[in-house]
Amino acid sequence: MKSSQLRDLACVICLLAIPGAGLTLPWDKDMQDQPSPKPQDSVIEINQRTVPVNGRDRFPPPKDIIELVLARLEAGRVLVNPNPKDDDSFEKGRQMYERHCQLCHGEQGRGDGPVGKKFVPQPMELNLDYVQLQPDGQLFYTISHGSIAMPYYRQAMSTEDRWHLVNYIKNEFGET
Ligand code: HEC
Repeated sequence: MKSSQLRDLACVICLLAIPGAGLTLPWDKDMQDQPSPKPQDSVIEINQRTVPVNGRDRFPPPKDIIELVLARLEAGRVLVNPNPKDDDSFEKGRQMYERHCQLCHGEQGRGDGPVGKKFVPQPMELNLDYVQLQPDGQLFYTISHGSIAMPYYRQAMSTEDRWHLVNYIKNEFGET
């Protein structure tokens, strides 16, 4: 081996021995890789008191059915219905029900609305113990995030109206 070849070989061995040395190539990207805001990066300082849009619901949308079921139960344990169960609340809930739910769940909540009849599985009968014995927070979660076939209403209805709707469902279709 010539001495120049030996020198090149030593160079390569050196480069391989220094950890990360080979990774710094190509150098023309160094300016781009520096710790600076990238195009489309947000540089807005998030205010400590900023509340995410869905913050008041405390639960982000579920990723799959398992998460839906678990979060729904958890919501039943931790969420507290802020609306008193009075006539004003029932009336507001009724308006929500007629506008958003009746088409599937039917006038009497029996799951036989004109659109609901086309669904498999059929919309839930809201007078069943399965629904009526659920804590308010669990029903609130279902209204907010939907169910397996049922659409969600967190964008169509204010948080307050969703709680009114929970009051209405229990008052109108339950025994109380
Ligand atoms: C497009 C039809 C449709 C609409 C509109 C609809 N639902 Fe449903 N709902 C269903 C179907 C189908 C099921 C049963 C299958 C499932 O869980 O998705 C269901 C299930 C439910 C359940 C039972 C969930 C559980 O715990 O298993 C509740 C409670 C409920 N709906 C309430 C409502 C309320 C309140 C509204 C109005 C905001 C509403 N639904 C609007 C189709 C609908």
